[in-house]
Amino acid sequence: MFSLHFSIVVIFGLISRQGVSAQSVQIAVTNGGVGLLGDNVINITCTTSGVATSSITLVTLQKKSTTIATFLTNSEQSNIIAGADIAGRAALIPSTVGSNFVSGVTIQSVVCADAAEYQCKLAYLDSNFDPQSVTSKSSMTVEVAASTVTGPPQMSSTSLQENQTVTFTCDGSVGNPAGSIKWSRTKDSVTEKLTGASNQVPESCWFKDTSTLTYTVTRDDNGAQIGCSIDQPKYVLNPSVMRTDALNVYYVPSINGVNPEVQPSYPEGTAFVRLTCHGEGNPEPDYKWVHEVDSSETGGQELVLTNLKINQTGDYTCVVNNSFNGVSYSDNRTYLISIVETTTNPPTTTTIKQSTSEQGTGTPKTDTVEAINEKGGLTEDEKTIIIVVVVLVVVIVIIIIGVVIFVRRRGKKQAIEEPPEKPRNNQDLSFYSNKPDLVSSDEKPSNLGYNNDSMSYKNEDGLNYAVFNLDDKPRSRKPLNFSETTPYAEIAMPSV
Ligand SMILES: *[C@@H]1O[C@H](CO)[C@@H](O)[C@H](O)[C@H]1NC(C)=O
Ligand SMILES: *[C@@H]1O[C@H](CO)[C@@H](O)[C@H](O)[C@H]1NC(C)=O
Ligand SMILES: *[C@@H]1O[C@H](CO)[C@@H](O)[C@H](O)[C@H]1NC(C)=O
Ligand SMILES: *[C@@H]1O[C@H](CO)[C@@H](O)[C@H](O)[C@H]1NC(C)=O
Ligand SMILES: *[C@@H]1O[C@H](CO)[C@@H](O)[C@H](O)[C@H]1NC(C)=O
Repeated sequence: MFSLHFSIVVIFGLISRQGVSAQSVQIAVTNGGVGLLGDNVINITCTTSGVATSSITLVTLQKKSTTIATFLTNSEQSNIIAGADIAGRAALIPSTVGSNFVSGVTIQSVVCADAAEYQCKLAYLDSNFDPQSVTSKSSMTVEVAASTVTGPPQMSSTSLQENQTVTFTCDGSVGNPAGSIKWSRTKDSVTEKLTGASNQVPESCWFKDTSTLTYTVTRDDNGAQIGCSIDQPKYVLNPSVMRTDALNVYYVPSINGVNPEVQPSYPEGTAFVRLTCHGEGNPEPDYKWVHEVDSSETGGQELVLTNLKINQTGDYTCVVNNSFNGVSYSDNRTYLISIVETTTNPPTTTTIKQSTSEQGTGTPKTDTVEAINEKGGLTEDEKTIIIVVVVLVVVIVIIIIGVVIFVRRRGKKQAIEEPPEKPRNNQDLSFYSNKPDLVSSDEKPSNLGYNNDSMSYKNEDGLNYAVFNLDDKPRSRKPLNFSETTPYAEIAMPSV
């Protein structure tokens, strides 16, 4: 490079001697004209060529046509113009005076305002001692490394519940050239990218990005963190991520199942069955078991049955509930617990009914799982048929026995059942004489010889007689007791 430069100077020197004007000045800004904002060095140099240093009257460095430094071959007279915007943070580069004159400034701290068009201007006297000037221009840009985001993402709501759409906001300088704010979600050490919407506004010489992430949280986001960082590949190689605290996302409770699994049946007399209902929800749900058998409830996750009896067979429902933001939620799942006689084959059907309810709006969902094991035992239908047949046979036998007894009773003729201790008053009656001639007989006894309340005494035309009343209630009858003197009695048999 030096040799090429040298040869160009030599060529210019030759041309000059041949009387062709080739005086020039070159401006150079280090780092390709790019200054990085901050304590970073930028050198701006002016290099003359084609003119004898003795002919140089002045080299000036201008920023947008304002002189900020002047250079003389007598370097003691070079200076940075007081009040120029580089004054105080720039210094003269020691000049070299040879076949060409090299001078310049070194800026030790780059500011946004340094981005501008600079020019070097060479003033000299030509061979006729006439003043001449040439210029050369170059632009400088200022780039800015991105900073970190100003803080962890801000949430539009502090109380989160599932299905809620939340807006996270992050901001910071994304530098120049502009980078962008990146979003991520981290849970259980797994980080995945999310996409936000950036809104970049230019600041002095960099861009500020205010990025929003619109995100619908799910129950799976409970415990996750949302993070943001600024990504700018040129200057920020390891962006630092700012994260929210672990999110607290409320969600409706649900039942996952019981542990251990409910068996198809339990033998009668089993000493102990313990089932633990497992669910989830945020806030942590409450648990209870509802027994269909007697509508009783047991609080807590565990259902404990001891000394199983057949009549404990039935549906047992695990119910979970929680509430948040003023609304209560619950879920339940029903398990059939079947207790069977030890000698019979166990029933082979287990039914699980599940339903989720949400107070207020929402449709309950129901799904039924029915598992039928074929273990070679009797199915419920077969059992039912057997029971029906047995019952029918028993009923027919009872009917036949009843008919036989009825027919036999009929054949015996209905005899009235009498208490054995009471004498039958329609038997063993003694008749002492024939029926008297009530009209002509002289025999008109005053004493009929009865002593029984069932008889009412009558006297008509001087003839004594009695009317004997018998009702149809055998046990109410009093025994007849006729005296030896009773001359005649006429007794009608009671109708039964
Ligand atoms: C800029 O100028 C300073 C002072 O003369 C010098 O030390 C430094 O090496 C120069 N830097 C570059 C990149 O030319
Ligand atoms: C969220 O959406 C799911 C699915 O639609 C629903 O089951 C659940 O009840 C909703 N949660 C809330 C709190 O509304
Ligand atoms: C269940 O049967 C047992 C006898 O096997 C009895 O002691 C108990 O009272 C019965 N329980 C109910 C609720 O019927
Ligand atoms: C569950 O419901 C009961 C009764 O309605 C209530 O007292 C309890 O606070 C609820 N549990 C939760 C976690 O909301
Ligand atoms: C179970 O959920 C269903 C459907 O929401 C509801 O009708 C039923 O009352 C619940 N059962 C219990 C025991 O909570």
